[in-house]
Amino acid sequence: STDGRLEAVKALITAHPDFPKKGILFRNIFPVLRDPKGFHTLCDLMVEHIQSKCSNVELIVGLDSRGFLFGPIVAQRLNIGFAPVRKAGKLPGETFKVSYSLEYGQDSFEIEKSSVKLGQKVVIIDDLIATGGSMKAACELIEMAGADVVECYLVIELVDLKGRDKINKPVTSLIQY
Ligand code: PRP
Ligand code: ADE
Repeated sequence: STDGRLEAVKALITAHPDFPKKGILFRNIFPVLRDPKGFHTLCDLMVEHIQSKCSNVELIVGLDSRGFLFGPIVAQRLNIGFAPVRKAGKLPGETFKVSYSLEYGQDSFEIEKSSVKLGQKVVIIDDLIATGGSMKAACELIEMAGADVVECYLVIELVDLKGRDKINKPVTSLIQY
């Protein structure tokens, strides 16, 4: 059970109207990281969920850049590896690449071909799902690599934007707005 821990984390997340553009209500997770107990609690909740629902996971993938705040910590605690999905042009060697649109723009993601093995069971982690464009692109990259997305795991889901409807994999979020 999460017995009040979820509420304690949620109380630390701040909302910023019209950032970074007019009409966007920005949900900021950094105040959680500023609070060591809150950050520890958030990581506990993520690890407990993945251990109970995705016990066969072999690799954690995190999305550039806020997925990097949680992915490596969760992967270490599960004793499995972490691989980054990065904005295009940042990763060396051979990569898979996809373009995607997000709530306030357009971008491309890449993953190193060598970071994912054929048939590997992958959980993708990010701080937030809005339109779902980023997570959909990340799922496409894992599929290109011949691996298997067992779950897409988000700290925050902006429910009204229906991002999960774009994604043909299990989507779980800790906190919904
Ligand atoms: C934000 C957020 C998610 C994505 C969600 O990242 O961290 O990755 O947008 O939006 P979507 O569901 O509409 O795709 P952003 O691209 O702003 O980059 P950042 O993490 O580097 O701030
Ligand atoms: N990324 C995309 N939309 C966002 C929002 N509303 N708040 C924080 N990060 C976001």
